[in-house]
Amino acid sequence: MARSTSTRVSTPKKKSTRKPASKRTLRSASTSDHHELYELSVQCTDAECDFIERAWKQTRRPGLPSSLREDFCGTAIASCAWVRRRKGNTAIGVDLDPKVLKWGDQRHWSTLNVSERARLSVHCADVMTPGQPQVEVLVAMNFSYFLFKQRAQLLAYFKRAFANVKDGGLFLLDAYGGSASHSEQEEERHLDGFTYVWDQYHYNPVTSDVVNYIHFRFPDGTELKRAFAYHWRLWSLAEIQELLQEAGFDKVSVWWEGTDKKTTSGNGVFRPTTRGEACEGWIAYLVAEKSVVRAKKVNRSTPKKTRILAS
Ligand SMILES: C[S@@+](CC[C@H](N)C(=O)[O-])C[C@H]1O[C@@H](n2cnc3c(N)ncnc32)[C@H](O)[C@@H]1O
Repeated sequence: MARSTSTRVSTPKKKSTRKPASKRTLRSASTSDHHELYELSVQCTDAECDFIERAWKQTRRPGLPSSLREDFCGTAIASCAWVRRRKGNTAIGVDLDPKVLKWGDQRHWSTLNVSERARLSVHCADVMTPGQPQVEVLVAMNFSYFLFKQRAQLLAYFKRAFANVKDGGLFLLDAYGGSASHSEQEEERHLDGFTYVWDQYHYNPVTSDVVNYIHFRFPDGTELKRAFAYHWRLWSLAEIQELLQEAGFDKVSVWWEGTDKKTTSGNGVFRPTTRGEACEGWIAYLVAEKSVVRAKKVNRSTPKKTRILAS
């Protein structure tokens, strides 16, 4: 079944905020900011927050979650949306790039009111660094964890994620795939005054290594070429689920996107399932659950009773 071949928009698009053409200033490479264009192209924070709350309810957790951690937070726009959403919400953002964090500070965090700002903390750190308080929900979106290419590295990250989630909490992440993800191709999406280009530049079937770029093209023929570069391993859903379970999560489910009957593309509604379709391009969410009651570890230091065999 055909589905959206868009590999970098996991969420419904924002409502259009287009100005009438006469009042719109035309974008060009020299006047554009790559972080702003990235957010406009691939992030929809309201839908992300909706999904967090829906996953919480659907996994039969009480009330609504309030504490969020956003790994690979970039500009931390999702964390900002989370603290704005409800008065009791708190967010921790973690990213190791000081430049993107500075941009996020100037563009987003500084626009929060005093209460919202007090409930947001952003850390310039590696996601593997321990030391932050546990949260109810941890998110790692837009496939950022694909940068861990070795099995042992991804397992170590998932174990760290497990440690960062409170008992009864959730770890939410996304993944992409489909037959088109194994080909070297460009896909264009025309947005408000610019074109977003997802360039699957290189795929190595032996290692599953991929190199992807994002370019932005403009009506005047200029381009922000390779505005973002991703050197990833294209992990399969089966591998990711196995590793999450190995890291300690008690239940892992894949949420697959429904189909719009008219367009036969994805409809933006994700539901847990054990069966997906062999479509050209798909995006899915994974919901990893940490139980409230954790099984007690067996004390292996106690010697086993010696069995006395009847003589
Ligand atoms: C694909 S962007 C994700 C941005 C945003 N979270 C989103 O959903 O679109 C990946 C981000 O991960 C950050 N990053 C890469 N390796 C990291 C690491 N080991 N620890 C923390 N952040 C890392 C990069 O600096 C970059 O901002």
